[in-house]
Amino acid sequence: MKDTVGIILAAGEGTRMNSTLPKVLHKLCGKPMLQYLLDILGQLGIKKNVVVVGHQAQEVRQILKNRDIKIVRQAKLLGSADAVWQTHSFLARFKGNLLIVYGDTPLISYQSLEKLIRAHEQTQAACTLLSAVLKNPSGYGRIVRSEDNRVLKIVEEQDADNYEKAIAEINVGAYCFRAKELFSALKEIKPNNVKKEYYLTTAIELLNKRKAKVEAILTADEQEAQGVNSRQDLAFANTVINKRNIEKLLSQGVTIVDPANTYIYGDVQVGQDTVIYPQSVIEGQVKIGRACQIGPFAHLRSGTILADHVAIGNFVEVVRSSVGCGSKIKHHAYIGDTIIGQAVNVGAGTIVANYDGKSKSKTLIADGAFIGTGSILIAPVKIGKKAITGAGSVITKNKNVPAGATVIGVPAKILKKRNSKRKIQNAKL
Ligand code: UD1
Ligand code: CA
Repeated sequence: MKDTVGIILAAGEGTRMNSTLPKVLHKLCGKPMLQYLLDILGQLGIKKNVVVVGHQAQEVRQILKNRDIKIVRQAKLLGSADAVWQTHSFLARFKGNLLIVYGDTPLISYQSLEKLIRAHEQTQAACTLLSAVLKNPSGYGRIVRSEDNRVLKIVEEQDADNYEKAIAEINVGAYCFRAKELFSALKEIKPNNVKKEYYLTTAIELLNKRKAKVEAILTADEQEAQGVNSRQDLAFANTVINKRNIEKLLSQGVTIVDPANTYIYGDVQVGQDTVIYPQSVIEGQVKIGRACQIGPFAHLRSGTILADHVAIGNFVEVVRSSVGCGSKIKHHAYIGDTIIGQAVNVGAGTIVANYDGKSKSKTLIADGAFIGTGSILIAPVKIGKKAITGAGSVITKNKNVPAGATVIGVPAKILKKRNSKRKIQNAKL
């Protein structure tokens, strides 16, 4: 892929989203839409990536910061062909291939783009594009073929006649072009269509007129072709990505009791034989060990690391925290910025008060500790090994509980210095 430059078009206004946020920054399963294509292009090992920004360029630039990406500005939004033309001065001497994708088609898979580039390299066409056959093709550019099945042109929905509207094969919006031929064709594109825009898709017809070869390959899965133009499309794309995340975990030996009601929103790793019950939301960077029980109604946020055999039950929220092997937090709790050791029992309704209105502080709960129902731990604070907090105690800032001690009350005071005889529940540890 070393002689391929990637171009992502992300300058469009996205009017149909009815939003103050640029379309490509809307999140899908926790990640901005644009990020999906950036990640795939990154994995493809492409020589260089260019992103064309325009509408709300400043905001879009923010997520492109500190990356090896060339950003090009489209000053007037005159259409997708004009957007590509803005890269011309940067790529004027480039003789290789251009992989052009649209920032609002985040469901395209790595496999399809890789196949597209390979096919393009093999056939030596001037353009190879990705197409899909849809049950409902309305809204997309239709692929018009000749009687001998060659791709002749792409007709946009607004410009299509009834015969063309009936074509089920559509333009996904991912193309490989030989750079020289594309730039030469772009010079000839005119905005003679209903929307009066310079359409990139017109290049196909122009290349055909010049007797250059145009090829199309089909996506394996029609869902990949769904672009995001409205909130309805956004909701649909979200369910598709969630399903993909769930499929991956199922194939890795995780039980997900009710996939339609489980939300995996991020880079989530889960060990074998863990069971995730319905209505659980797992988001951001989360790592879960083997044979854990999660949910129902658990909320695991970014920075959560659970060791093996951990149980997180109903209405428990965990963020930026780690939980050691065999520990249990089973009902109604909030755990933030906390390190929990092994075989700890965190009672129902326990709250770690990690935020004092200005800054967040850390809490440590050592191995074998027993946190009584309704305890409030005001961070920063440490609960020693095998220590016990009584029901309803408030353990105040820096009033660390020594190992083996029992504390009770508000504010919590030491009741017993040592509980050396107390057995830890989880015998395995
Ligand atoms: C486009 C295709 C259509 C295809 C569909 C797939 C064209 C003319 N049509 O239609 O054939 O089936 O995508 O989803 O390309 N953009 C700019 N600058 C502009 C205009 C657009 O950067 O001046 C970018 C947009 O940000 C977007 C992409 O180009 O990422 C496509 O534009 P959009 O208006 O969404 O085209 P569609 O009508 O969806
Ligand atoms: Ca679109």
